[in-house]
Amino acid sequence: MTSKTLDYLSFDRASRRVSLDPREPRFVQNPYEAYAWLHAHSPAFFWEQFGMWCFGGYDDVNRLLRDRGLGRQSPVGIPDSRGLDQDRSHLAAFDAVEAHSMLELEPPAHTRLRTLVNRAFVSRQIERLRPRIEALANELIDRFPANAPFDLLPAYAAPLPITIIAEMLGVPVEMGPQLLDWSHRMVAMYMHGRTRETEDDANRAAGEFSDFLRGYAAERRRKPGDDLLSLLLSAQEDGQKLNEDELVSSTILLLNAGHEATVHQAGNAVRTILAQGGDPRRFFATPGATAAAVEECLRYDAPLHLFTRYVYADTELPRGVTVKAGQQISLLLGMANRDPAAFADASDFVPGRADQKTVSFGAGIHFCIGAPLARLELQVSLKTLFDRLPEIRLADEPAFRNTWHFHGLETLSVIG
Ligand code: HEM
Repeated sequence: MTSKTLDYLSFDRASRRVSLDPREPRFVQNPYEAYAWLHAHSPAFFWEQFGMWCFGGYDDVNRLLRDRGLGRQSPVGIPDSRGLDQDRSHLAAFDAVEAHSMLELEPPAHTRLRTLVNRAFVSRQIERLRPRIEALANELIDRFPANAPFDLLPAYAAPLPITIIAEMLGVPVEMGPQLLDWSHRMVAMYMHGRTRETEDDANRAAGEFSDFLRGYAAERRRKPGDDLLSLLLSAQEDGQKLNEDELVSSTILLLNAGHEATVHQAGNAVRTILAQGGDPRRFFATPGATAAAVEECLRYDAPLHLFTRYVYADTELPRGVTVKAGQQISLLLGMANRDPAAFADASDFVPGRADQKTVSFGAGIHFCIGAPLARLELQVSLKTLFDRLPEIRLADEPAFRNTWHFHGLETLSVIG
């Protein structure tokens, strides 16, 4: 528990209002200091900069993620609230993608889409990808420069998940850089303080991405293969299929979600492991130890820190917070993972801890479809990296990108 005052955070006890600029560099570089303060003083608070109530207690976040009185879908039918009363005509292509994205929908539409996508996704039996992920990790390590510092993110953390998800979907792997570009430009829509330029660019990226997938799906329809896109085209549930718009949205969601978070979780995990000092191989000595190390990395420094929910009826939420229908609230996953009421020595990295759990993949009906794949990629890539390069060390102190709720490193310069 900390009672130290933070000069970049102000708090009004009576109203539980917090003023904290999410772009404040000290917060971006180490949000856990502010989280510890908030846990000690007010795990639920009204965050002025976002204009909404936020919850950071583990049990509250876990419960609210599962609460069916809340949801991701906007009650007024617009993909999201970002600019409800603004003209969104310049976002037509972006909104078209989001309108059919399971991540932005609630039952019954969500159930139907998720069942169809999940059927195709799990039928790929994630575990059988292990040898391919191992081979790819080794190939990438073979290409690391010898005795010179290099950035581990583009050399290892990014190409691994993007190659795997592109191969799974049956999208040409050479398209990797183009997919990354479209994805980054679309994800920029979720960053704090975006501009009209970002919106126009995200819309162009969504349009190009959709056109590419429509053409590609037409090819697959003519000549189906053993890939996820072909499976999605044929996936059926009670005689229902994905229509073309849903297919495009689902594929974009899998491609974007399939690497954005994993890249940054891998970078954060490498930084965490290196910060422990000593021989990193001790964390990966057995499959059980590797799985435990990855779970603790997911808890200790997650890549996604904030998700919002709409409230569908006037209600009282935990800790006496009352909200009205249509309002949004925020769930702070990164803060919940460090709750001292839920974890012994919450700020310590303790793989295999008795209270191991995490909300990094969410909970409830939107629980991450890709969690088994992300876990496998992280286990294989971290173990292979540290087994092959046990002497690897930081060449520079890494800095986080100035996007607090997408909590990932700008660069991760290492020397092997
Ligand atoms: C470490 C890596 C990852 C993290 C931390 C992560 C985190 C999350 C979280 C927190 C959610 C729920 C959001 C909410 O409740 O509002 C989610 C949903 C989702 N994730 Fe992941 N994810 C990761 C990797 C992946 C991968 C590899 C894929 C696919 C290949 C994927 C696909 C999805 C999809 C499709 C959803 C939407 C599920 C739904 O709405 O029902 N994710 N992810």
